[in-house]
Amino acid sequence: KRHLLSAADLTRDDAELVLKTAEELRSLADRPIKKLPALRGRTVVNLFFEDSTRTRISFEAAAKRLSADVINFSAKGSSLSKGESLKDTALTLEAMGADAVVVRHGASGAPHRLAHSGWVRSSVVNAGDGTHEHPTQALLDAFTMWRHLGSLDGRRVAIVGDVLHSRVARSNALLLRTLGAEVTLVAPPTLLPVGIEGWPVETSYDLDAVLPKADVVMMLRVQRERMNASFFPTAREYSRRYGLDGKRMRQLQDHTIVMHPGPMVRGMEITADVADSDRSVIVEQVTNGVAVRMAVLYLLLGGSEPSIGEAE
Ligand code: CP
Repeated sequence: KRHLLSAADLTRDDAELVLKTAEELRSLADRPIKKLPALRGRTVVNLFFEDSTRTRISFEAAAKRLSADVINFSAKGSSLSKGESLKDTALTLEAMGADAVVVRHGASGAPHRLAHSGWVRSSVVNAGDGTHEHPTQALLDAFTMWRHLGSLDGRRVAIVGDVLHSRVARSNALLLRTLGAEVTLVAPPTLLPVGIEGWPVETSYDLDAVLPKADVVMMLRVQRERMNASFFPTAREYSRRYGLDGKRMRQLQDHTIVMHPGPMVRGMEITADVADSDRSVIVEQVTNGVAVRMAVLYLLLGGSEPSIGEAE
């Protein structure tokens, strides 16, 4: 495959190859020298039109650990403020010889436009487009679950919160289904998207009914920046029904893990005692994000075999 635009692009074999490659690459993080020469001479451009902490930094770390050159572009401080279009930005990158463009954009579909426009010849990786998809987040989430639980066949994953605005929820629903898990989306009716009937998931409005059966609980941030202010739920009313606190955490099975893609709003969808508890794998998700993004770049750019013996 040349691009990674949607979790739906991945067959089960594709997804398992990414997870296995990431497992091999993850061991690099424990070595004193964390670099492989697999993508030496290649250029990866991080093209971020929306803010990011984890995704942008982990793609940068991933590309550097594979010895690629990295160019970071963020909308702030660029010529976008002077009215430059996505097309002209893309042509500029093409002129600089990018092999992969990792793009985050506020408009759903922007990475697809970039990949299919003919403006760039490089591989395009969707790093989050509007409320649509975030496929590498779903891959790192699946990788984290797989490391804790083994096969995801028949595993029950509850994804809780603002599904309406969540590209993470959509990509996870698609990928987890491909990997055999059963996904339940838990949200107030106002935070479920129109057309949810077409998603490969169950839905519920009742968090307390879902928690005792879940193997994984993934909490989502309420994305106020994508809401009309008149629809803001108050932290108190939201957390009472849909927040994960210590009392609710005690309903979970012993092996159940708690996840959050970040950024978290402590006290809204998750309390600090849960976020910092032994069940929480939230920090580990970030570590796994580097390995998964290394695997994605490596597989898309067809680097040399990622033998850990080659570490420089
Ligand atoms: N999970 C995630 O996409 O985080 P950032 O917005 O910080 O990249």
